[in-house]
Amino acid sequence: MTHETTTVPRQQRSPARPLPPLEDAGRAGLFTAARTANRFTDEPVTDAELAEVWELARWAPTSANTQPARVLLVRTDEGRARLAEHMAEGNRGRVLAAPAVAVVAVDRRFHDRVPEVMPPMASMQQALEADPDRREALGTSGTWMQAAYLVLAARAVGLAAGPMAGFDADGLDRDLFGDADGTGSWHALLVVTLGHPDEDSYRPRMPRLAAEDVLRWA
Ligand SMILES: Cc1cc2nc3c(=O)[nH]c(=O)nc-3n(C[C@H](O)[C@H](O)[C@H](O)COP(=O)(O)O)c2cc1C
Repeated sequence: MTHETTTVPRQQRSPARPLPPLEDAGRAGLFTAARTANRFTDEPVTDAELAEVWELARWAPTSANTQPARVLLVRTDEGRARLAEHMAEGNRGRVLAAPAVAVVAVDRRFHDRVPEVMPPMASMQQALEADPDRREALGTSGTWMQAAYLVLAARAVGLAAGPMAGFDADGLDRDLFGDADGTGSWHALLVVTLGHPDEDSYRPRMPRLAAEDVLRWA
């Protein structure tokens, strides 16, 4: 069976050359000037834009290509209201006012797809089935990486993102993923609002650690 996920577009079958260094505008839009958005204008975010975000993010790397993240895209009033019920109080209004919201979840059964997404390491499926701790570590770390890629992909298509970890994940799983008893496959890790930032969207920029406090050289 061929899944869409395993269909590799022609232009991606051979490795692309690395980009020439991004010019200042690209660096600013992705990193140095980009901000965490708290408020958005009424300008809608289309389903096509949301699809475009994932079309970029899905190509970024994960351990053994396991791709454990799953994403619920919320863009209806009803969906926002249901999601908002599970947000921490300070985050609730942000969800209700966002044109679109992505809930990034780990698929706890991500290893079932290993034979398909990493055929040379197909036996990893059984190894992970037998090792819940390793499975959880791999699934969680990979999903966090994919969540970060999603934030950068949103910026790459001209949207602003507001990642939030402050919510009741078990309640969200129960209500939005139909996980009545905590044994379901999708488990929410991060909620990301998406849209076009309002003028007063931003809190004051907080300092980043200096390179000399972070980097060691060997
Ligand atoms: C994983 C993660 C979880 C976060 N959770 C929350 C949250 O629950 N509520 C909130 O108001 N901001 C949250 N933030 C926003 C951060 O505080 C913000 O991204 C950070 O201070 C950098 O802000 P800047 O991009 O505007 O410089 C979260 C950010 C990340 C990446």
